[in-house]
Amino acid sequence: MSESFLGNPGYYARCAKTYDAMIGSRLYNKVFWGTDPRQYSIFAAQAIGSGQGPLLEVAAGTAQATATLHVASARETTLVDMSAPMLELAGESIARAAGGTLPERITLECRDMLAPGADRRYETILGLGLLHLVPDVAATVGALGRQLEEHGKLFLASLVKGSARSNAYLALLKAHGDIACIRTANELFDQVRASGLGPVTLSRRGSMAYVEISR
Ligand SMILES: C[S@@+](CC[C@H](N)C(=O)[O-])C[C@H]1O[C@@H](n2cnc3c(N)ncnc32)[C@H](O)[C@@H]1O
Repeated sequence: MSESFLGNPGYYARCAKTYDAMIGSRLYNKVFWGTDPRQYSIFAAQAIGSGQGPLLEVAAGTAQATATLHVASARETTLVDMSAPMLELAGESIARAAGGTLPERITLECRDMLAPGADRRYETILGLGLLHLVPDVAATVGALGRQLEEHGKLFLASLVKGSARSNAYLALLKAHGDIACIRTANELFDQVRASGLGPVTLSRRGSMAYVEISR
């Protein structure tokens, strides 16, 4: 597996179905992160509703929070993930939500989100559950920013420090090598701003931070 894989590739390869059930569970998200999966969909809906041009979802995983939203959207949409088993479930979810077949305007690409095809640009890039997997936030935001059209927008979410229980679980995940870094929301904000891409806003619900960056 490539060194540019973020997080634990073996886990996503072996446990895609378990991950999908866990990330969609209201109980899991409430107990460990003080969040609700509907909040992830609301953030994704804001990203998808923010424009009409090409949209890229990076580290899309199983598209648990986004499958039905992509079907409801009319945008040309690309989902990228480095894990084939995760992306396969994403494709199945989207096809199911669309009545059986993947819509033609939706493309799935199993590749590194930081190694884009030449000259491909998107109006919107969305990444859920992402920046806690990233060791160098400014470099990652910069690399994604280079895939944006002029005046495009990034919508990125990240686990950050929150309650004592969330912090303890973050420490466990870090010790296990499942995440790269434990940050406060303020630290995340500063590291995103350091990319120099453009104006940044950040909001936090429980242990999930939602970042919007305009180019
Ligand atoms: C924590 S999961 C998040 C999945 C999804 N966004 C969600 O919120 O349910 C992280 C995902 O990033 C993918 N991934 C890791 N490194 C990647 C890379 N360099 N390019 C694209 N995807 C990557 C993993 O395969 C995994 O599906």
